[in-house]
Amino acid sequence: MEYLRLIVVFIHITGFALLFGAWAVEVSSGRRQVTRLMNIGLAIAGLAGLVLAAPWGISYDLNYVKIGVKLVVLIVIGALMGIGQARARKGGDGKVNAGVFWTIGILTLLNAALGVIWR
Ligand code: HEM
Repeated sequence: MEYLRLIVVFIHITGFALLFGAWAVEVSSGRRQVTRLMNIGLAIAGLAGLVLAAPWGISYDLNYVKIGVKLVVLIVIGALMGIGQARARKGGDGKVNAGVFWTIGILTLLNAALGVIWR
């Protein structure tokens, strides 16, 4: 069970890497689009996160306040990605508003920091 949980943590981090990596590519290229890879990363991190939110394969208590905060942050990231994509589609070139785009990346890093630092 413990190993299975570690594998799910690994999948969770892979989702984070895909989301953040795909976001960073958009920043460095100046394209600023919400890409398919970002959506896939968010979905993987979110699904694996929900699996990790249940108390199995561990001998300590989960911090449900932290998990709740992470869930809210994930929902905000998803909403911003949806809003950004919809607005970009209307605008024509697919470029998302700078404020919305930077907030997506910062909230992604925040959720990773909460996962690692908040015990
Ligand atoms: C963009 C979204 C998210 C990102 C980038 C993210 C990132 C991370 C990272 C980097 C870790 C550290 C793993 C470790 O320290 O071994 C982690 C742990 C964890 N995350 Fe997330 N996460 C996200 C969303 C979620 C969601 C939505 C949930 C649950 C509703 C969740 C639940 C957890 C749990 C339960 C852990 C393990 C914490 C522990 O055992 O102390 N995460 N997350």
